[in-house]
Amino acid sequence: MSLALRRSAIVPLARAVRPVPAVAALLLASGCKIQDDASFRRATADRLPAAASSARAEPEGAEGAIPEGPMGASIRRGRAIMLATRDSLPRNVGNALRCVSCHLDEGSRPYAMPWTGVMARYPQYRSRSGQVETVEDRVNECFRRSLAGSALPVDGPAMRDIVAYLAHLSRGVPVGTRVTGQGIDSVKAAARGDTANGRAVFAAQCARCHGPNGEGSVLAPPTWGRKSFTIGAGMARWRVTAAFVRHNMPNDRRESLSDQEAIDVASYITSRPRPDLRGKELDWPRGNAPDDAAYATKGASGSRNARASRR
Ligand code: HEC
Ligand code: HEC
Repeated sequence: MSLALRRSAIVPLARAVRPVPAVAALLLASGCKIQDDASFRRATADRLPAAASSARAEPEGAEGAIPEGPMGASIRRGRAIMLATRDSLPRNVGNALRCVSCHLDEGSRPYAMPWTGVMARYPQYRSRSGQVETVEDRVNECFRRSLAGSALPVDGPAMRDIVAYLAHLSRGVPVGTRVTGQGIDSVKAAARGDTANGRAVFAAQCARCHGPNGEGSVLAPPTWGRKSFTIGAGMARWRVTAAFVRHNMPNDRRESLSDQEAIDVASYITSRPRPDLRGKELDWPRGNAPDDAAYATKGASGSRNARASRR
């Protein structure tokens, strides 16, 4: 287990209270900058129906109004699992990441795959599995792919608590609406970046926290290697990583990289070795794999590049 994880595991829950409105405002402002940029998709993500924008106007964040009693206790347990995933569920986690390594600000940050409103988005058809997935299915995909671990029983107490936390973050978001910064952008670049430049960007901007070999440190989790996310994770796709990095990294100087630097460093990171995922070749069974999928898929033969950056 990495030191980063150990340290984060003992962060007191009370520290979770953050100046969320200020952060959100900052992000909204900076988000516009990116949306003006033609190289990023989802430019329309902010054109929200009124109901969802009011949910956005007063973000309560992860700590907002957790009720007392058994429901509140379940929400808090769910949040604790997201923050200290391996300590909570050692048998289900195979690497040094935790859920909030990627779902930043306890899952409430726009443009970092926020869980805000996630209950209103499932069940959902997902092209990667070729199936309609429940929110529990989706959580288990991240356990297997992003945490290099194994699925939780969908009717067990841990899943119940996780879903309680997701529901807490979804209050007030009507089914069928979009929230600001939902999901993750997929960078619309013509081609994979320059990995040699990406290596230089990593050394200059990322290694001080993520380690010179992407192995992680007390300051940040690994970005590749044995303790990182699997090749089958969304984050193993360079377009996804580029968007995540462009919006969120370096952690203390967000929005400071150019689009090209983000694309280059993402191309470099996703070219590095990482844990495999069994059965990955069965992904996108209908043959619409995105062009940045990190592996060949059976269903994809012939049409692999047909629909760039579709997920
Ligand atoms: C390595 C980074 C990473 C880690 C760690 C990770 N996830 Fe994810 N997660 C992603 C990405 C990327 C997506 C895809 C966002 C999209 O669909 O556009 C995602 C999507 C999701 C979604 C669906 C969100 C939506 O709006 O549809 C849920 C729920 C989720 N993750 C839960 C979890 C849970 C629970 C954990 C811990 C067990 C976890 N994730 C760990 C990267 C990660
Ligand atoms: C100041 C420290 C710092 C710097 C510099 C930094 N990061 Fe991070 N990064 C973090 C932290 C902290 C997290 C995880 C958040 C958490 O666990 O709370 C993270 C998460 C990530 C993740 C998702 C989780 C993972 O490890 O796979 C990626 C990918 C990532 N950073 C890439 C980068 C890239 C690329 C750069 C350079 C452009 C960079 N980071 C610079 C601190 C940093």
